[in-house]
Amino acid sequence: MAPDAEPEPGAADYEQYKDGFHDWLATYWPEPREQLHAGGWRRTAEMVADIKRHLAAAGATSSASAETSASAAISALAATSKPPRVGTAASADTAGGGSPAPAPAPCTAPCLGRPLEVLDICCGEGGTAAHLAATEGWRVTGVDIVESAVQAARARAQAYGSIVRVACQYDTPAHAVRLRLLYEAVSDRATFVHASIFKMPVPADSYDVVYGQDPDGLANPERVHAFREILRVLRPGGLFYFWHHWVPGPGWPARLLADYRADPLTGPAPRLSHEEYVADVQAAGFRLLHVSDCSQLAAQHLGAMEQRVKRRQGRQQGQQQAAAAGAAAEATGPGAGAGGAKQEGEGGKGGEGASGGGQKVVEAHEEEEEEEEEEEEEGEAGGWTAIPITGWLQRALHYSELAGGRMGVHVVALKPPAAAL
Ligand SMILES: C[S@@+](CC[C@H](N)C(=O)[O-])C[C@H]1O[C@@H](n2cnc3c(N)ncnc32)[C@H](O)[C@@H]1O
Repeated sequence: MAPDAEPEPGAADYEQYKDGFHDWLATYWPEPREQLHAGGWRRTAEMVADIKRHLAAAGATSSASAETSASAAISALAATSKPPRVGTAASADTAGGGSPAPAPAPCTAPCLGRPLEVLDICCGEGGTAAHLAATEGWRVTGVDIVESAVQAARARAQAYGSIVRVACQYDTPAHAVRLRLLYEAVSDRATFVHASIFKMPVPADSYDVVYGQDPDGLANPERVHAFREILRVLRPGGLFYFWHHWVPGPGWPARLLADYRADPLTGPAPRLSHEEYVADVQAAGFRLLHVSDCSQLAAQHLGAMEQRVKRRQGRQQGQQQAAAAGAAAEATGPGAGAGGAKQEGEGGKGGEGASGGGQKVVEAHEEEEEEEEEEEEEGEAGGWTAIPITGWLQRALHYSELAGGRMGVHVVALKPPAAAL
């Protein structure tokens, strides 16, 4: 960059989010690693249903979401009152991979056309993008600022293998249906770009939907520029859908907001209020369709995270006690080692082990082994300097309580159709 060039809006995120961030986050995250947003797969399923509902309301499904899985196409055909003659047999989806596989949504408009083109902003390690490409047949581009996350996302999509999909055309006068089988690698449908959402190497007007699940790039105070960039890449009439569970909710008193922003433990990026967040969406040129908080989601997620952090602290405490007891036993001479070993068993569950039977102790050890793999000291994590999660969590819970539990922002908005731009 030339010395006098304008700094790129949102550039602070390049420093904030680096390799190691996702390892650190996953250590404390209650949801699965491939879903680093609050609510996990359940919330994703709600999002997909919401998106379809909004698209249907906007009349978009008939032109965009035309391809569907074999099973959905066939059930849609079966549901028509005059069953047409089907000339080609079709096989069902063969998507692999470790993600949950809810039944594909019913096909509302089976006809030849193109799949929905979707952008996943701040996609993380790509679990959602790969899953939606495999189960919905959408073409999803994921964008994330962390290179290692993008690499993990590509590997995840590749692990899904290929899917078989059906494109079908209903010929009204002949009552005939033409079916075409399409074999495609999920990794061709879910692709990933290493970039900031403030500057995406993506042509204008190229997506039907942009979604973001806890997209932290939008926590950047310069977020209005990101909203403008999202508006640019959406097609006129396209849908923008996101939620962000850990930002302030609606109606926080000014004093509370000021305290929250000034608190060094509430996170690396200063945040605006729920109201300012929404105002930025409008200032960028979107038309709002829906605005709400995410209080319930935030309460569940923060609560689950708190439990996880407490369990981890308990284990650490237990390990420390066991180590201290072992050292003391060694110091007092032979025969004392058995006491140390007993302590270790108890320590593994933060002291709970003493009340359990043999089975419980075995389970405790298994759980430890599983979670120990994820453990990472707070502090430096692969080039990314971690904020202390316990402090962050404590403050998030504290402010949420002071705000009567009102947390988060959930927005659905439309890029105005060309005529209204
Ligand atoms: C809470 S995680 C959510 C990840 C993902 N949406 C999911 O559901 O698993 C937030 C993500 O935002 C990404 N991020 C932060 N700032 C960004 C920016 N300016 N541009 C793109 N990604 C960004 C982080 O790297 C991280 O993957």
